[in-house]
Amino acid sequence: MNYIGSKKKLINFIKETLRDVVGANLNDTVFCDLFAGSGVVGAAFKTEVAKVISNDVEYFSYVLNRHCIGNTTPLYAEDLFEELNALEGTEGFVFQHYCKHRDNTREYFSADNGRKIDAMRQKIGQYYDEQRIDENCFFYLLASLIQSCDKVANTASVYGAYLKTLKHQAKKPIVLEPMPYELSVQDHCVYHQNASELITRISGDILYLDPPYNVRQYGADYHLLNTIAHYDTFQPQGKTGRRDYYRSVFCKKRDAASALEHLVQKAAFRYLVMSYNSDGILSSNEIETMMKPYGTYRVVATEHKCFGRKKEERSTIEYLHILEKRNS
Ligand SMILES: C[S@@+](CC[C@H](N)C(=O)[O-])C[C@H]1O[C@@H](n2cnc3c(N)ncnc32)[C@H](O)[C@@H]1O
Repeated sequence: MNYIGSKKKLINFIKETLRDVVGANLNDTVFCDLFAGSGVVGAAFKTEVAKVISNDVEYFSYVLNRHCIGNTTPLYAEDLFEELNALEGTEGFVFQHYCKHRDNTREYFSADNGRKIDAMRQKIGQYYDEQRIDENCFFYLLASLIQSCDKVANTASVYGAYLKTLKHQAKKPIVLEPMPYELSVQDHCVYHQNASELITRISGDILYLDPPYNVRQYGADYHLLNTIAHYDTFQPQGKTGRRDYYRSVFCKKRDAASALEHLVQKAAFRYLVMSYNSDGILSSNEIETMMKPYGTYRVVATEHKCFGRKKEERSTIEYLHILEKRNS
């Protein structure tokens, strides 16, 4: 999934840095991905550490992580994927509010895909309600649906706006594809909580922090994925059809520094490793000044090519701020 702030292309950099700091063998460590997003970082450590703790405040992200981190045993659902892909479409909430037709101008999905998304989402809920599937399989199907919807969304990248005309990819019929995940002998923990609260209740060895680094709220940018994940009914707001969304303190210039310091202060972890970008609302110096009093600090950096909103390639610097926390 093309997720804003995804660390997919930086996994090697993160892993190498961590091995350098903690040691090559992470087998006995508890690794926490407190702002998990798409889940790629936790997934990269899933089979290498004793336990991954994964968390994100957005529900669709929880669903992705509940599957790709939380599911550890084989799930046999080929027949369900076939059934779901063969469903007739139905005119449910997604079709009514997010597809173009006589009564609606929003066009996040083609009308046919909107109907199919409604039919698949309703059926997944029904399978679970009727106990045809367990919770693991429910999240497997739902995470797969979220990823498959994202592939045919008529957006530039996020759901803050839809395109004026259907783009090529959005005209293709949606196919529900299984979201891959790694099996593991270890059990992992996945949370859907505010990081500022969860931090007081967890402990481990490595705390990986990848907070939002600018003022754009994930709840606004990904509102439609939350709506498909929850599949509740509400009055969509304004031109974009947004739902009420969570406003993160980490996106607010005024609050970000103190919110991060709270995490650093409360962290019951030996190593803290925080990703932050040169475009971020806090400067590297501000982060260094905030972290240094809590232990031994250093920073490493790498150049990173990322895509902006208009899909142009830009270079930024990705920092990893590393703190070995002093026992207090
Ligand atoms: C930069 S993204 C993380 C990207 C992720 N590392 C990846 O590779 O996909 C930041 C994430 O922090 C989450 N977030 C924002 N505020 C939060 C909070 N207060 N508690 C937990 N998660 C939060 C957002 O929903 C978003 O998924």
